[in-house]
Amino acid sequence: MAAKEIVETSEAQIAVHWQEEGYYQPSPQFIAQANMTDGAVYERFSLENFPNCFKEYADLLDWYAYWHTTLDTSDAPCWKWFVGGRINASYNCIDRHLEKNRNKTAIHFVPEPVNESYQHVTYQELYVRVNEFAALLRDFAGLKAGDRVTLHMPMIAELPITMLACARLGVVHSQVFAGFSGRACADRIVDSNSRILITTDAYYRNGTLLDHKQNADTACELAGADGQPVDKVLVWQRYPGKASSAALMKEGRDYFVNDLIHDYYGARVEPVKMPAEAPLFLMYTSGTTGKPKGCQHSTGGYLAYVAGTSKYVQDIHPEDVYWCMADIGWITGHSYIVYGPLAICASTVMYEGVPTFPDAGRAWRIAQDLGVNIFHTAPTAIRALRKIGPDEPAKYDYQFKHMTTVGEPIEPEVWKWYHQMVGKGEAIIVDTWWQTETGGFLCSTLPAITPMKPGSAGPGVPGIHPIIYDDEGHVLPKGAGKAGNICIQNPWPGAFQTIWGDRQRFVDTYYARYCKNPDSKDWRDWPYMTGDAAVEAQDGYFRILGRIDDVINVSGHRLGTKEIESAALVVDEVAEAAVVPVAHEIKGREPDLYIALKPGFEASEELAQKISDAVSTEIGKIAKPRKVWIVPDMPKTRSGKIMRRVLGAISNRADVGDVTTLANPDVVDLIKAMVEG
Ligand code: WTA
Repeated sequence: MAAKEIVETSEAQIAVHWQEEGYYQPSPQFIAQANMTDGAVYERFSLENFPNCFKEYADLLDWYAYWHTTLDTSDAPCWKWFVGGRINASYNCIDRHLEKNRNKTAIHFVPEPVNESYQHVTYQELYVRVNEFAALLRDFAGLKAGDRVTLHMPMIAELPITMLACARLGVVHSQVFAGFSGRACADRIVDSNSRILITTDAYYRNGTLLDHKQNADTACELAGADGQPVDKVLVWQRYPGKASSAALMKEGRDYFVNDLIHDYYGARVEPVKMPAEAPLFLMYTSGTTGKPKGCQHSTGGYLAYVAGTSKYVQDIHPEDVYWCMADIGWITGHSYIVYGPLAICASTVMYEGVPTFPDAGRAWRIAQDLGVNIFHTAPTAIRALRKIGPDEPAKYDYQFKHMTTVGEPIEPEVWKWYHQMVGKGEAIIVDTWWQTETGGFLCSTLPAITPMKPGSAGPGVPGIHPIIYDDEGHVLPKGAGKAGNICIQNPWPGAFQTIWGDRQRFVDTYYARYCKNPDSKDWRDWPYMTGDAAVEAQDGYFRILGRIDDVINVSGHRLGTKEIESAALVVDEVAEAAVVPVAHEIKGREPDLYIALKPGFEASEELAQKISDAVSTEIGKIAKPRKVWIVPDMPKTRSGKIMRRVLGAISNRADVGDVTTLANPDVVDLIKAMVEG
């Protein structure tokens, strides 16, 4: 396996031994209605036509001023797209649709409790609410173009309203997944220098009304201690006018939006004409060191790319009802719940809660109620729905024409259930491979043009030209049957611009390894390294194996092993911590946490629990280890490095290989006995 020298255990090493599968063709009915049916699109977006080909996507948007330079490479590898262009994302997602579609639903909000009714926010209502809130942000919170603001919001309609209000002003939003802890939120407040936090008092998750405001208090306290005071906390209430959180409102700092917004009744805010390359938002993602990276996305390039891929890969038409079940706290939600669909005037569905609450039929009832015909989710959700309700979809009267899977490799078995049961054998499936950094899709079939193949993402989407390198930098050609590091040869408009405040880390992480000449201003010398291992089949389809670095994909969410390890080290008794990925039937991967204690401390259930709790507090429940194994000693090389590869093999019940050269080979059998019980 490629990249073995860099890391000792990785997702990609928990090898997936899937057979090559046969092709599935889209139906003639699907092709007849599709937005993109012309196979020549691949030619139009070939490297010969790069970068001007992307004008086709940019032309889906309304510009105040056209650009003079399509791609500016002078600050390589920080590419600038559509330079000279002026645009506003909020205008493109709302205002320009009003004339013809004022009364069309922009957002269908589905509350988790079954006794609460659906809310349907029309484009007109979205316009009114975004304008009023933008006025509040400008006049009450004092925000202006270029300022950063942190959002820590759950899946409620006020989240996209907040994002679009920021975008209207050119304010850079940084939305933190609501399931993350106050600590994780504080780190992102500090890194982005946000002095305003926008949050919610409470939200529903799996039948419980969670108190969310308390996370804001923790976040403010910790951010303040780390040198970034929060001046104002704006709290949207889940039930306006009703207390849903036990946390107190801090005088002079905390305000209910529902109270303040009355002062802005009827306010209209002129969208700020932003430079195309101005940042639209930050999205933090786990990296190979403990510190999350603030991926900075642009306004014009990003919006063009998500609009184009929403139209041609998601095949969304204005009359469709489109439901992406991701969380807006992640990139999928930003690109394919909010910005992409709204830019092309779709009706987008947002569901507050858990897909299996209160039972395995919930998702299909929502689809039936709203007439959803395009459905988008992740393998982890598909596995869960298949496990608890394999025959459930057939009981409901909905008809999907198109379905997406995203976030992790999907097993062909699971793909086939998705196709047969959820898609009723009719819906096409796109397996979209991409990343927080990439803004939009990298590999996927084009639904009416390239046939599907279970377990393979497919070829690069138009304008994306992947290439696989081995560790020595040689190209692994298609059909080589070998995995390597998948890179993208060319820049594209959706790509992030840099890591917020850390250009060096941006260059080092994504470009340094395969850069052909660090002084070059030619994009051909700067392949983008994704950090995933992949194989390319003879037909040019890419199969993604998983991360080569120390990042674990749990339920489709990227978690840094270093982040989890440093959370464990917060506990006094802990001397060393090592996290390894373990294969899991539903979640895909789970972290297993190995701990060695400082001298004089004894292992106990309570201590293991305390360590596990520390991970939840520091990062969020999502990072909770499957198991905390307190071991007598870590297996180590003679130079003292922890052998994660050995721990990974033990956790996955695989062969530990030759351990005789370790400094302490005996400990391996002890740990094995403990884990295998
Ligand atoms: C993985 C989510 C296989 C991959 C959009 C990538 C996938 C990481 C797929 C990015 C897919 C995403 N097949 N693996 N279709 N989609 N991945 O940043 O390892 O949360 O690098 O972005 O998820 O995760 P992120």
